[in-house]
Parts: sequence; structure tokens; C-alpha cells
Amino acid sequence: MSKGRSVFRCTDCGAEQPKWAGKCDACGAWNTLVEEVVGRKVGRSEGRTGAGGATPVQLSNLPTGGVERWKTGLAEFDFVLGGGIVPGSVTLVGGEPGIGKSTLLMQVAARLETAGIPTLYVSGEESPDQLRLRADRLSEDAGKIHVLGETRLEAIVHHAAALRARVVLLDSIQTTYTEELEGAPGNVGQVRECAARLMRFAKEAGPAVMLVGHVTKGGGIAGPKTLEHIVDTVLYFEGESTLDHRILRAVKNRFGSVDEIGVFRMTGAGLEPVANPAAAFLAGRTTGVSGSAVTALMEGTRPMLVEIQALASKAGFGTPQRVATGLDHRRLAVLLAILERRGGLPFGNLDVFVNVTGGVRLAEPSTDLAVLAALVSSVHDRPVPGDALFVGEVGLGGEVRPVAGVERRLAEAARQGFRRVFLSARSQGTVPIEVVRLENIGELARRLAA
Ligand code: TYD
Ligand code: MG
Repeated sequence: MSKGRSVFRCTDCGAEQPKWAGKCDACGAWNTLVEEVVGRKVGRSEGRTGAGGATPVQLSNLPTGGVERWKTGLAEFDFVLGGGIVPGSVTLVGGEPGIGKSTLLMQVAARLETAGIPTLYVSGEESPDQLRLRADRLSEDAGKIHVLGETRLEAIVHHAAALRARVVLLDSIQTTYTEELEGAPGNVGQVRECAARLMRFAKEAGPAVMLVGHVTKGGGIAGPKTLEHIVDTVLYFEGESTLDHRILRAVKNRFGSVDEIGVFRMTGAGLEPVANPAAAFLAGRTTGVSGSAVTALMEGTRPMLVEIQALASKAGFGTPQRVATGLDHRRLAVLLAILERRGGLPFGNLDVFVNVTGGVRLAEPSTDLAVLAALVSSVHDRPVPGDALFVGEVGLGGEVRPVAGVERRLAEAARQGFRRVFLSARSQGTVPIEVVRLENIGELARRLAA
């Protein structure tokens, strides 16, 4: 069997050329060249292996320089996606009812239309009249958005193609169904099949698709994480719907980094990106009150300052209460045990309440020291210095451990007016503010009691 030689054929005009280039030499079309082997004798068995379909290409033959992105101008939204919406990508926006998913997508659609990118907003949840009412509230000019009240996938795809929409927003995946499957919209089979079909549509026809997905009680989108594997990007919209702040979090992103968050405020005229997200959750903090400590945690690549409040009060009859909001209650139990055994503060007959303000959830151990500082402060009824920050993980031996990214956290804290940081004695690096070095939790207790 002879080996043959490679040529590159344009899928548009059919001309062949010996070298790969971004553009066809004959017709000038971009990205249409595919490699072909000519003059090769094909054996009998080989002929049946299924030619056609995609052809392998060498990575070095592909254009470099990242992907094209459409910016919406909603700064926090573009940031979480990694710089804007990627053509042909499928993004899932999950969140509890009432958190603002529909509002967010409508604002995105309005901004894209204004920028000249045709969009289609499909709603199976609300009628076009209801959508109009929401649009009227927004600060964006939403008049140009094309809306469609439809739940049948085949019709949605047809209209999206007919309109040549570059971005299709679907609210929600749970109300969409395909004729090809039996079963009501919202069941796992329907949801999965519709998402997979939209994924194919996006990859073949090139529009970006954004799906709204309702979060079930267990916290997954449409059942056991059914969709997260199928789509390119998964964003969760979270926050207390009674508070103003909303957090958009990337938990999966094929085109950007995960764990990035964007912070918004829900106003009377839609969602507003928060200009200074690092300090957003400190707003409304009063200094000079016992049981409050501030820490700097990392959300993706960004430092955020949050306040932790603790209240220890004499327990009534029976087992003392332990209530934690924004913090795992088992972590609180561990920290209380450490404080009792290593710091010499008894909690046996105290009720303990710990609260992270702004609806933030603590996931990093670097916030341990601040939780303990708030507890110590509450027990002694003595406020911690208002310009002090607490950053450190605490081990079972009561030792205070260094954490990663201290420089970045403290640079932000300095910008927000903090002048002092309680840190592990073993922390490395230079920091822009005064440092109080701690070996262990006993030292923290002594320092705050003094
Ligand atoms: P919505 O986007 O409908 O939430 P979801 O699609 O996630 O269920 O928004 C829900 C809440 O937001 C609703 O209670 C009303 C409130 N809201 C505002 O406060 N300001 C506004 O401008 C808009 C459009 C909604
Ligand atoms: Mg909605």
C-alpha cells in the first residue's frame, strides 16, 4: 500500500493547495482547508472504515490567539465567563427561583441586541406580555429583543435558525421538550436530550446558547448534575433573595477559569454590577462591637473581605445551642473544641451563634482564625481593633498555619483601609500593613483579652 501525500482542500470551492494556511489561496475563504491524503492505495478493509466526518489536524496548524468573544458590557458577567460570550458555546445558568436568572439573561439580551448581535429570548415560563413588563423595569433598552413563547425544541431551533440569532437564551431547560421523546418536560430524559440537541445546534450552526436551569432541592440542576457534563460552562446565581447582593459563580468553564465570581446588586431597574466587589460584603459593618472579625478570602483570583459575627451567650437548660449561618456547623464544632482545649476558653454552658454577613459561605480554612477571633471577642465582650484583619488556618493542635495568596489578600485589605493583620508566624512574604504574628491560638486569646 503506497503512503500517498498530503494536500489541503478547501471545503468551500474545492481547490487544493500543498500547504496549510488560515485562508484558501483560490477563493480567499477563512478556515475552510482540510488535510487530505492523495495518491494512496486503499486496501479493501480500509475502504470500509468510514471516511468523511472530521479530519485530524495538527495543533500547530490551527490559528493561535484565543477565541472570539462577545462582550455584553455587564462587567461582572463578562468577567465570570472569562471575557465574554464565546460563539458556539453552551452555558447553563442555574439558581433558585426568584434569584434573578431571567432578569440577568434579559439584560444580556438587551445589551447584545444594542451591540448589533441578533439574539432570541425564548421563554417557556412567561408569556411575551409578562416579559414586556419585566423589560420595562430595566435600565437597559430591551425593546429590540426578539422574544418567543415556545416550549417545543424543534420550533425553538427552527426560529433561532430563521432569525439567524447569534445568541439564543432559553428560559428554562425544564420547560422545554422534544417531540422525539415521550415524557413530560422537566424529566431527566427530556432535559438531557434537549440540552444535548442544543449543544449540537450550537456547535454546528455556531450560535451561543444560554440555558436557565432550576436548582432542585438537593442543589443540583435538573436532577443529579445531569446537565453539567453536557454543557461548556456552568454558572450558579446565588445569594439571599431577601438581600440585595447576588453572586454569579462559575463552577465549570471550558473557556475561562472556574470559581470566579461576579457580584451584582438587585435594584428596582434590574441587576447592577458592583463596582468594588472586594468590599461589597463589608458595607453596613459597625466597628466597636464585640464578636465581629474581618477576613480576606479568595474567590477565584479575586480577594474578598467578609465579616464574621459571633455571639456567645449563657445557655439555658439542656444542651447548649450551636447555630452557624454561612459556615459548616461541623467546622464550627471543630473550632470550638480547639478554642476550648488549646485556648483555654470553655464553651460548655454557652450558646454559640456564628453568622457570615452578606450571605457569603465560608469554604476556605483560611477563615478559621477570623471565626475564632470573633468567638474570643464575644466571650470577653471586647471588640477587636476595627482596622484589623484575621487570616489563617487553625490546626487541631491550635497552631496557626500560613495560607496561600497572602500578598494578594492583604494588598486588597490595605486598599480598603485595614492597617493590621493577625497572621501565622510562619507566613512568608512582605505585606503592606502591620503584622501581628501568631504561633498558636493561645496567643490569639491572650492578645485579644489584653
Ligand atoms: P427573576 O429574574 O424573575 O428571577 P428567576 O428568573 O431567577 O426566578 O427575578 C426575581 C426577582 O427580582 C423578583 O422577585 C423581582 C425582582 N426584581 C427586582 O427587584 N428588580 C427588577 O428590576 C426586576 C426585573 C426584578
Ligand atoms: Mg425566571
